[in-house]
Amino acid sequence: MNPFKFGSIVEESYFTNRVKEIKKVRSVLESENHLIISSPRRYGKTSLILKVVKELDRPFIDIDLQIITTPEDLAAQLLNRICRIYPFEKMKQFIKHFRIIPSISINPLTSETDVSFRASTYTPVVLEDVLNLLNKLSTVEKRLIVIFDEFQDIKKIGKDTDHYLRSYMQHHKNINYVFLSSQESLIREIFEKKKSPFYHFGFLFPIGKITRSEIKSYLVSRFKKITSKQDAVAGSILNITHSHPYYTQQLAFTVWEILEKKSGADNPVQSALEELIRYHDIDYERLWNTFIRTYMKILIGMSFSDKSPLSEDFSRQFDLGATSTVYSSIKKLMQKGYVVRTEKGYEIDDPFFKRWIRERRLR
Ligand SMILES: Nc1ncnc2c1ncn2[C@@H]1O[C@H](COP(=O)(O)OP(=O)(O)O)[C@@H](O)[C@H]1O
Ligand SMILES: [Mg+2]
Repeated sequence: MNPFKFGSIVEESYFTNRVKEIKKVRSVLESENHLIISSPRRYGKTSLILKVVKELDRPFIDIDLQIITTPEDLAAQLLNRICRIYPFEKMKQFIKHFRIIPSISINPLTSETDVSFRASTYTPVVLEDVLNLLNKLSTVEKRLIVIFDEFQDIKKIGKDTDHYLRSYMQHHKNINYVFLSSQESLIREIFEKKKSPFYHFGFLFPIGKITRSEIKSYLVSRFKKITSKQDAVAGSILNITHSHPYYTQQLAFTVWEILEKKSGADNPVQSALEELIRYHDIDYERLWNTFIRTYMKILIGMSFSDKSPLSEDFSRQFDLGATSTVYSSIKKLMQKGYVVRTEKGYEIDDPFFKRWIRERRLR
């Protein structure tokens, strides 16, 4: 079986390392503090937090704010998840006292519940009742962990929803709240700005990529089952992906497939790379056509040059004008996740996209 996995959360044999991070996350969750984990997309936040909480033997609920549409929907989805971990009979006692009673249907075959609030209900009250319910159900011995994934999207869900959440959460002594976010600038705004409702609400923990040596030994130990050149293969993969967890897994997965098929196996990494670029061609092209000229110029520059995109040299070479304009464009590209900032400076997030741009230019 292909030993690499990308796209969804990774567990067990697919999960590697993060030893220090696991320790840190655990220690925060074992205290009475809240936790904020931030990193660019697909570095492994969700995988990390789920690994830790599953090992803790405590109840947890996990909600991805990207798929929540309104504050009432948030309240309903929270309730749905609570119904999965606490007996319905127990919950009923509490829900009876809600100021606005949700409609709850239960599938008699699976016992799954489906909760909803009427769209016109007064938001703060609904959220307050649901969040307070979480705190009531939780106990000191087995504190509930509530995970809000992609928390930066709270701003899209409703006006002032963050204020409401914070004002209820601050009274909850029995819960550890965890916030994950893929947008570091926004997360700083939410948790570090004095005026923000969540100012200093929890321990802010930025995570980086998995280090090169760690991810390399993960690759080597698996590739040696299929090739004798495991070291060279792992090295070339990482030269392309710069140890980005997701892209590394994706490239490794494709290399493994090629080695298995034995066609293109004389340079499996190069063949895999070409395959991935071809595979994404339509998406990349569509994406490219959504960009304004300045974004195009910056991305082309970053695909060909290692110079800092904020340098005057870069600006001159790629016909960009004032560095202040470049700076604001880079900020936008970072918000959208196409550019990330690493120890090395600014980088195009997706190494395959970077190569696609190069290929198109050189064609
Ligand atoms: N600890 C890890 N070990 C191996 N691969 C990982 C690890 N963490 C993340 N990955 C890779 O990155 C991908 C994205 O991980 P995910 O947890 O969804 O990231 P995030 O929540 O930060 O977007 C996974 O599907 C997997 O391929
Ligand atoms: Mg995630």
